Amino acid sequence: MCGIVGISARRDVVSHLIEGLQALEYRGYDSAGVAVMTDEGIARLRAKGKVSALGELQLQRGVSGHCGIAHTRWATHGVPSEGNAHPHVSGDVSVVHNGIIENHEALRKELQAQGFEFTSQTDTEVIAHLVEREQRRGADLLAAVKAVVPVLHGAYAIAAMSRREPGRLVGARLGSPLVVGYGDGEQYLASDIHALLPLTKRFTYLAEGDVVDLDADGVRIFGEDGEPVEREIKETTFSSDAIDKGGYRHFMLKEIHEQPRVLADTLEGRIAGGKVLTEILGVDAVPLLEKTQSVHIVACGTSYHAGLVARYWIESLAGVPCTAEIASEYRYRSPVVKDGTLFITISQSGETADTLAALKLAKARGYLTQLAVCNVPESSIVRESELVLMTRAGPEIGVASTKAFTTQLVALALFSLALGRVKGLSEKRYASGVRQLEQLPAMVAEALKLDERIQAMAERFVDKQHALFLGRGTHWPVAMEGALKLKEISYIHAEAYAAGELKHGPLALVDQDMPVIAVAPNDHLIDKLLSNMEEVRARGGELFVFVEDGVGRGIDSENMLVLPASGEIAAPVVFTIPLQLLSYHVAVLRGTDVDQPRNLAKSVTVE
Ligand code: G6P
Repeated sequence: MCGIVGISARRDVVSHLIEGLQALEYRGYDSAGVAVMTDEGIARLRAKGKVSALGELQLQRGVSGHCGIAHTRWATHGVPSEGNAHPHVSGDVSVVHNGIIENHEALRKELQAQGFEFTSQTDTEVIAHLVEREQRRGADLLAAVKAVVPVLHGAYAIAAMSRREPGRLVGARLGSPLVVGYGDGEQYLASDIHALLPLTKRFTYLAEGDVVDLDADGVRIFGEDGEPVEREIKETTFSSDAIDKGGYRHFMLKEIHEQPRVLADTLEGRIAGGKVLTEILGVDAVPLLEKTQSVHIVACGTSYHAGLVARYWIESLAGVPCTAEIASEYRYRSPVVKDGTLFITISQSGETADTLAALKLAKARGYLTQLAVCNVPESSIVRESELVLMTRAGPEIGVASTKAFTTQLVALALFSLALGRVKGLSEKRYASGVRQLEQLPAMVAEALKLDERIQAMAERFVDKQHALFLGRGTHWPVAMEGALKLKEISYIHAEAYAAGELKHGPLALVDQDMPVIAVAPNDHLIDKLLSNMEEVRARGGELFVFVEDGVGRGIDSENMLVLPASGEIAAPVVFTIPLQLLSYHVAVLRGTDVDQPRNLAKSVTVE
């Protein structure tokens, strides 16, 4: 969701700004723009649609400059259009912004009354006029931005430049991420490090309320109180190859196939001698787990589905009550927190606005502590949490989450087993769970071999308008995740039901035009699921069944695929794989934009 890049250098930066935006495309956007300082003033290129359109404009107009800001916009206030695309300009000032300025209407009226003319419908334009107003009052760019940020209510990451001070960029963050990159004789700003990986590996993650002032020679950071602060410079191990398709047609397909490796990475150093190393939850893990009387999980989207799977595990393996909830609901209700409750957030990006807000609220509510399951080191959620269990999926670029989800499941399985161990889980079940985790990368590699058969199956979905996914127990959330994947990237309306609910409504929809996808692991609910499938077949519905080895005998469906035998911990991960592949192939056949589906953003940094 929205991306910022800023560069101050001694060479032409336009192509680097555009490349930086391309690396941020995965966040989701619907227009893009760039502004650079030239001898004649600020030159601006903006276009609705893809960043590649900016590249074409650049070829036509030949704009060049040593200092510039660039932006991908995901529309919130005002339609996606060239006029609403950033950078926004007022007099000498141009600005890009991520986030939402909640008091923009009042500010707009005040500025209009003072003669400022608005050319867009965006909330961002007020920032450009406010900075310009400060400059007219005599402030330099740094002082102007420092004066403006306290006036803004909401969430923002900003980058600004002014014709009065060529070569200078000033940035600020509150509620939306912004990183500083350090080069040799050039310095950078961006929403996340991916935009800058071809240019540098050295970064500072700005803290909430920071303002940064940079030019080609160096960087100065000021804390919330306006005073200079030192922030740590970190060297990343990520390389720009991580955001390469590596020969695959889409990032999503590459990320699906990376799963055996990233699952192994997420397990590495966390299991030894047939045990989960509880230290992964911090030095005081055992006393904390002993004190844990209940667990409250909060997340959004795919991460919420991981939380729903974990709820079953935590209750069944540890005998500890667990609720999993959507962050946007949690943050606006009045949750009752019983003593001894552990709060867990799950987030791939670590920047999802609702999850972050939920975490901030939870801190004041008397939980034991907060644990984040997250994929991005240095993200806001990681930094705000007492305890962190990192997933090691590496950068996930496809908007539809795949490897992030399965690595979340692995991290949550480690947690559930560790908690179970402390709470009296039998040695046998514990050992079996750990063994399943050890074997999981190989099982997933096996499931991936079904790719070609699933591709053939996908053809049956191309002309469908709807699809119904069924599962029970931990596989109900797996079915929910399958339905979410299909709707996100193929735009087929898909719903998931706990199979036991079939007769309470969705059965009315079942006919030959409604494919029904059933997820059938070999667990204690399999017989019940088999009878649900019979109910579908009796109504003429076309069944697509994913079964665990050993279950298939009773099932009469030509569309049946057999998955490796896996067990209670491994099965939700293994069964996710064919569902990911199915939605991928359906989307490819329908010709959608698989990696950047319409209207969706990778990282939802506004409410
Ligand atoms: C967006 C993404 C989803 C993701 C959700 C939560 O909707 O498109 O893939 O599951 O946000 O994001 P998080 O980064 O908090 O896991």
